[in-house]
Amino acid sequence: MKKHLHSGIGLASLERKWFLPLVASSVVSLTLFIAATLSLSVSSDGKISSGFSLLLSREADAESHMEPKLILFPSSGMPDPPRLAYVISGTKGDGNRMRRVLQALYHPRNYYLLHLDREASSRERVELARYVKLEPTFIKAENVYVVGKANLVTYSGPTMIACTLHAAAILLRKHKDWDWFINLSASDYPLMPQDDLLHVLSYLPRDLNFIEHTSDIGWKEFQRAKPIIVDPGLFMSAKADVFWVTQRRAVPSSFTLFTGSAWVALTRAFVEFCIVGWDNLPRTVLMYYTNFVSSPEGYFHTVICNTREFQNTTLNHDLHYITWDNPPKQHPLSLGLAYFENMTTSGAPFARKFDNNDPVLDKIDKELLGRREGRLTPGGWCLGSYTKGRDPCSVMGDSSVLRPGAGTMRFEKLVRRLMSKENFRRNQCSIY
Ligand SMILES: *[C@@H]1O[C@H](CO)[C@@H](O)[C@H](O)[C@H]1NC(C)=O
Ligand SMILES: *[C@@H]1O[C@H](CO)[C@@H](O)[C@H](O)[C@H]1NC(C)=O
Ligand SMILES: *[C@@H]1O[C@H](CO)[C@@H](O)[C@H](O)[C@H]1NC(C)=O
Repeated sequence: MKKHLHSGIGLASLERKWFLPLVASSVVSLTLFIAATLSLSVSSDGKISSGFSLLLSREADAESHMEPKLILFPSSGMPDPPRLAYVISGTKGDGNRMRRVLQALYHPRNYYLLHLDREASSRERVELARYVKLEPTFIKAENVYVVGKANLVTYSGPTMIACTLHAAAILLRKHKDWDWFINLSASDYPLMPQDDLLHVLSYLPRDLNFIEHTSDIGWKEFQRAKPIIVDPGLFMSAKADVFWVTQRRAVPSSFTLFTGSAWVALTRAFVEFCIVGWDNLPRTVLMYYTNFVSSPEGYFHTVICNTREFQNTTLNHDLHYITWDNPPKQHPLSLGLAYFENMTTSGAPFARKFDNNDPVLDKIDKELLGRREGRLTPGGWCLGSYTKGRDPCSVMGDSSVLRPGAGTMRFEKLVRRLMSKENFRRNQCSIY
């Protein structure tokens, strides 16, 4: 492994010679560090669990794409940057915000699925779809989609999780080559260019699931797990609020409930396990969560932590900077200019939530993303000229060429902390 490591890094610095030397050296240390961390868990065949791969190898022909991959260091050259599959969802009046989030998040390597729920008018949806259809870069890269047949989504109801699974299913079917599924809304915003994020992710094992979780459900046991709700969005054509049933139910004993952030970055293998998997747990848990308030804060968390094959793949963080109201931590505060400093130093690649066109978004565009109004965030793929206010991204180059910047170091620092000996294994699905 050592040998691969060195040759990998040699090539990396050759090919990405525009790196700040500082960035390069810190990435080297990240790589070494991660290699050290993971060697604890990786078995000799390079798979995270041999039981799992045995099960899979029997079905290898039909289902080989389900095999969890642990790509550490390819034998030649530097690691290929991963591909991310984003879903950006919004509701009535969110069309323009979604467009801005998309521009800020854009990279030709990734896939983007935009979902404006059924509360939004079809006019708004058509306008968004028209923008996507006319943007020359999207036409060339063919990687942005708008959901035409929108879902009815009840905030905090199970229709939210149904909508997320629907989006994931579409992305699974459309493209075979993405590595992580990331769920965002119109009030999220990136804090670094995709080049920085993709660069750090390219040095991480591809079977790591970013999901903030805990089994310490606390007050949620009484207020979430025991009450039974019904979401009319499941069976009515017009939107209505969820209602509570008078009876209460016991806390499950056949699986352990986990809860956490509704914002996740999940591996393709885990998303496939949830949607087209051979195990029944994802379905049983889904049906259990049909009557649960705020199911997005528990569904994936409960499935992943109750599945042996995936338990050890969690990284306990949601990749977001979020500030909450004081307990009970139910409402994220809107982030304004006052939070810029803390947001940046957190190292998180995303933050929420932002009010529509808040001035801090302009500051993020200018100082963190290098993005001009109405344009895409530039990156290594933009080959055009910057002079005379021209848009460099009007000329599209190779999407695997990244030009990582200062965000790389911030995100690397966060990852390093999360993967440290004290944090990484200890925070995986522990049961209190
Ligand atoms: C996905 O994103 C939406 C924001 O649009 C959020 O409300 C939801 O809870 C997220 N998580 C899941 C697991 O669906
Ligand atoms: C997960 O990690 C724990 C502790 O590190 C270990 O005991 C367990 O066997 C691992 N599970 C799998 C499926 O590898
Ligand atoms: C920023 O972080 C510091 C240190 O954690 C904290 O004291 C301060 O209140 C934070 N600022 C804001 C605006 O939240």
